Amino acid sequence: MEVIILPNQQKAAYLVAQILAKELRAQPQLVLGMATGRTMEPVYHLLVDLHQKTGLDFSQCSTFNLDEYIGIPAEHPCSYRHYMDELLFNQVNIPKAHTHLPNGMATDLAAECRRYEAAITGAGGIDLQLLGIGSDGHIGFNEPLSSLRSRTREKALTPATLEQNAPMFGGDPANVPRRAITMGVGTILDSRRCLMLVTGKSKASILAKAVEGPISAMVTASALQLHPHCQVIVDEDAALELQEIEYHRWVFANEPEWAEFQDLA
Ligand code: F6R
Repeated sequence: MEVIILPNQQKAAYLVAQILAKELRAQPQLVLGMATGRTMEPVYHLLVDLHQKTGLDFSQCSTFNLDEYIGIPAEHPCSYRHYMDELLFNQVNIPKAHTHLPNGMATDLAAECRRYEAAITGAGGIDLQLLGIGSDGHIGFNEPLSSLRSRTREKALTPATLEQNAPMFGGDPANVPRRAITMGVGTILDSRRCLMLVTGKSKASILAKAVEGPISAMVTASALQLHPHCQVIVDEDAALELQEIEYHRWVFANEPEWAEFQDLA
């Protein structure tokens, strides 16, 4: 795992968008794992900008989102399908049929979870998985005590997650759906590359636990320490509680992979 610290949220999001764009140019049929949430919004704005200004081509790639709420339809303004359509899919040249999210309205949710796993496998697996981190340490909706080998399944959301996501539902945690379908930790770990973006002071403590603490089902993001190619891009605010901050800075300044991005420092 590498942790890359950049001065602010804009630059951190910019680096994530640039990495994704570089992979897409190198491999037009890329299979992308997508995340939603407020952290990701600037990344999708930047990708739309790259599409409009540089012709970044999404026509051959396909996407699989991490998760979707159970019990709200795709047209609901707070569904993750709606989020993705509005922020990215409707604004770039990706065929809608290439975009996948779990169906939280399926009558047989367990069968839907199996179908989603099979669809990811059928696409050849995920090449690049984008991730955010929840205030309780979740990736996807893998709440504390999720098995670190879990696959796509239904999950009850924690009070911390209901609180975190309440602003999108009019500010009241009671309005947030109680359950979701989420890729499992094992599903996420199967992707070939993981890129987690973490910004803001409110994530400083959980970020330090996830990347420098012990691997634990209590903080499912800590399972990324087991991934052979995982990079965590953070801003200074999120980095506040990291112990190895000088080493993380050294990696960005010295590893050849990051040489082309030094103007972001
Ligand atoms: C969203 C997802 C979640 C979020 C996390 C952070 O698809 O899977 O794990 O990435 O809850 O959300 P924000 O960015 O809103 O703080």
